[in-house]
Parts: sequence; structure tokens; C-alpha cells
Amino acid sequence: MKILIVNGPNLNLLGEREPNVYGGQTFEDYFTSLQFKLREVELSHYQSNHEGEIIDKLHEARLHFDGVVLNAAAYTHTSVAIADAVKAINIPVVEVHISNTAARESFRHQSYIAANAKGVITGFGLKSYELAILSFIDLKDE
Ligand code: DQA
Repeated sequence: MKILIVNGPNLNLLGEREPNVYGGQTFEDYFTSLQFKLREVELSHYQSNHEGEIIDKLHEARLHFDGVVLNAAAYTHTSVAIADAVKAINIPVVEVHISNTAARESFRHQSYIAANAKGVITGFGLKSYELAILSFIDLKDE
């Protein structure tokens, strides 16, 4: 099974960005340990700070991957275009967030993406990504 992790704006700064909210680990380090742990899945990851690039990547992913784990970051709360892309592609997308967005500012409570996603995992730190991938493994025959 091939899964693509797509990270949106500012997530390239994980490790130094608001470590009290997002933790002190870089995504690269986390990704290496995740791939080591979940050897039965072929993982790739992509990060962009640009809405259109994220949309292009989602379109491309439908040709090469079995599913996408998407942390659209702030675009979660603003982007109808990314939500439409999630709906447009014929592979499942699981929305993830590192922080518990429901426990934060009210503008983070709305997700345009959630209704088009297979499910949402939020608030478990970087482990949210692992839980999302495990959901793909567990649900692969359903
Ligand atoms: C985030 C939550 C968003 O509200 C925020 O804009 C982010 C990261 C998270 O992973 O917790 O950039 O998606």
C-alpha cells in the first residue's frame, strides 16, 4: 500500500514553530521513524505553503497512491478549493491535525475538508499521522 502525506503551510517549520503547540521534532525526523515503524506501507511526503500546489499534488496522487493523509494546516479552515480537490479525487483522504483544533480559537473549529474526507484525526501530536496511516491499514479491505 502506498500512502502520501501532504502537509500544508508552515508545517515545514515543525520543530521550531510554536513547540508548545506542535512539539519539538522536525517532520523529517518523525517521518523517518514512522517509515521504519510501519514497514508494510510505502510512505511518501510532500509539503507546500501554496494552495494551488497542494491541489496539484492531490490530483497527481490519485494516479500513484492508495490514499492521502492530509494536514492542510490553516487552509483547512479557509480553502473551498482544497476541499473540492479532496472530493474530486477517487482515493480516500484522511484529514489530520497535530493539535486539537476544537480546543483552540473558534476559527480553527471549522474544516472545509472534513466533510469530503474519510475521517479526521486531530490532537494526538505527530502521532496523528501514524493513527491516520493505521486507519488505512485497518480499513483496507472494507
Ligand atoms: C494544524 C492546525 C491548524 O489550525 C493550523 O493552522 C496549523 C496546523 C495542526 O496540525 O494542528 O497550521 O493543522
